[in-house]
Amino acid sequence: MNVSSPIKSAAAVPNDLDAFWMPFTANRAFKKAPRLLAGAEGMHYITVDGRRLIDAAAGMWCTNAGHGRRTIAEAIARQAAALDYAPPFQFGHPQSFELASRIAALAPDGLDHVFFCNSGSEAADTALKLALAYHNVRGEGGRTRLIGRERGYHGVGFGGTSVGGIVPNRKLFGTLLAGVDHLSATYNRETQAFTKGEPEWGAHLADELERLVGLHGANTIAAVIVEPMAGSTGVLPSPKGYLKRLREITQAHGILLIFDEVITGFGRLGHAFAAERYGVTPDMITFAKGVTNGAAPMGGVVLRADLYDAFMNGPEHVVELCHGYTYSAHPLATAAGLATLDIYRDEKLFERAKALEPKFADAVMSLRDQSGVLDIRTVGLTAGIDLTPSKEGPGKRGYDSLACAFHDNDLMLRVAGDTLALTPPLIVSEDQIGEIIDKVAKVIRATA
Ligand SMILES: Cc1ncc(COP(=O)(O)O)c(C=O)c1O
Repeated sequence: MNVSSPIKSAAAVPNDLDAFWMPFTANRAFKKAPRLLAGAEGMHYITVDGRRLIDAAAGMWCTNAGHGRRTIAEAIARQAAALDYAPPFQFGHPQSFELASRIAALAPDGLDHVFFCNSGSEAADTALKLALAYHNVRGEGGRTRLIGRERGYHGVGFGGTSVGGIVPNRKLFGTLLAGVDHLSATYNRETQAFTKGEPEWGAHLADELERLVGLHGANTIAAVIVEPMAGSTGVLPSPKGYLKRLREITQAHGILLIFDEVITGFGRLGHAFAAERYGVTPDMITFAKGVTNGAAPMGGVVLRADLYDAFMNGPEHVVELCHGYTYSAHPLATAAGLATLDIYRDEKLFERAKALEPKFADAVMSLRDQSGVLDIRTVGLTAGIDLTPSKEGPGKRGYDSLACAFHDNDLMLRVAGDTLALTPPLIVSEDQIGEIIDKVAKVIRATA
């Protein structure tokens, strides 16, 4: 199979960057000093001017197996030649069933059906709609409330935005969904600063759900959705016991619990899903990103058998759930997904992440005495480093860090406000962890 190899030297640059309105991007700043990528292999991105950047972000929490994986590229190419597109409504193709079974086998016991979509946002909205519909078909249609959490991120659909808890993502978009409430964020710097793994403080914050149940009535609440580790707002691991407590309360009140594992799925926390790490089985898990190693858009929801079964009633020729996407289980994405899961299994990458976690945590914590470091949090192969904001206001230091990493230090990282997020591919070596930390230290000094 002839799959062209990544660009290794300078690539053509478009002379007009104006037309593309870039998502979640400071467009004017970017277009003045673009960060253009032309290739990627292993732990590195290659810029249009031929520089090799070490990738401390797995792209955007996606490429857990590293870049330029040949078997994934070949699987996509083969599939494009064999079956470019298959309608997912009323038709199927073999790989979609195979991938669903493989994902269900990785999920906690009891979660054994998979609904496919194309992104984390669609996965979150799908899970929320499934929760509402499930209660409806069981004759509990009064359960319409959805509970999210402050500082949560569940993508940009109206559902995900509504249960999400990031103010700038919400405030321009009107009233969003009605009947949504939020738990408090679990982060508290005073009690949790410089914690490796799960903070001791904060399990009691799950009890807020009891307060919301008291306020609204359990029989009005459909579901609670949380990330086991809130990634987009700066790596906020769950406090010890928090998720267990949420599970107990949701179970006691017939409320569905959804874990949004778009980031934490597929090895980021050293397990196939974070649910396994925490020993807590939710009713649904959303996934995306790592399922295809970022090589093709795909998302989905894994759910409990009895949720699925609740819909399997009535005449057999009738569609049981009026929901889905033209590109659900797209052949190219399922091909990428199967090849990706083979790599995770064959290279034992989830186990690798688990084994590397203590070394990664120690390495990142070595930055704690750098001036301007307010807190460092680590969990799995993930870390958040809070920096003192610049005098020019919140977010400027973060933006400067991103630019300084890219232009001056051949480093790709992610920022959330003034927090640096490190989430390297799970293939990262100990030497490369050291290299990343050295570069981050330079960025912190340069932006102080
Ligand atoms: C937890 C979580 N949910 C949902 C999403 C949205 O995914 P997408 O950008 O693929 O729509 C993200 C993206 O980072 C995420 O981190």
